[in-house]
Amino acid sequence: MEFSALLKRRRTIRLFEQKAVADETLAALVDAARVASCASNKQRLRYTVVRTPELVLEVLKHTRWAGLVQPRRTPQPEESSPAAFIVITTTEDELSELLCADAGAAVQSIEFAACDAGLGCCWLGAIDRDAIEKLLGCDKIVYLAAVGYPAETPRSVDVSAGESVAYYIDENDTLTVPKIRLEDVMKWR
Ligand SMILES: Cc1cc2nc3c(=O)[nH]c(=O)nc-3n(C[C@H](O)[C@H](O)[C@H](O)COP(=O)(O)O)c2cc1C
Repeated sequence: MEFSALLKRRRTIRLFEQKAVADETLAALVDAARVASCASNKQRLRYTVVRTPELVLEVLKHTRWAGLVQPRRTPQPEESSPAAFIVITTTEDELSELLCADAGAAVQSIEFAACDAGLGCCWLGAIDRDAIEKLLGCDKIVYLAAVGYPAETPRSVDVSAGESVAYYIDENDTLTVPKIRLEDVMKWR
């Protein structure tokens, strides 16, 4: 897909088909994250791919989804749950600002690579890190990325600055994500 189209096409996906994603496809998403920008090129992030169905459902228990439209975009186990979680970890002691920025760039790369591969993705920060770290026996978690084949087609709508930016479900059951229009977020000097 053209990159400009991909930029506009990508939306957070929270309902998924019950279909496995091939290991090589998941590895390609991590590979996209691996080469993302990171502060001083220190590369302090690591990735655990959880794709065993039972473990995915265990991780799912410790995640929170789409607070503004609960429970309609909260994936249900074995109905709309993701095929995998990419768990982004670090061996650093603190989740510093720069480390979170690194992880943000990594997740964004995963999101675009997923979209380009016909997959959906949800960046997850509202997670019980302690519980998931204990469950997986992994290092400190920065974020999760949920991945799977999309079972919804959210859309964005342009709004003016000052209008509500709260995402909502419209009369067609489509998750609708307001984005502030270009002229309202940009200045020339
Ligand atoms: C740092 C960060 C944390 C997020 N955490 C969650 C989360 O825990 N649960 C969730 O459902 N969505 C989460 N999201 C997704 C946002 O809700 C979503 O990006 C936003 O509503 C805009 O939608 P869009 O991605 O389709 O543009 C997170 C996004 C970011 C950038």
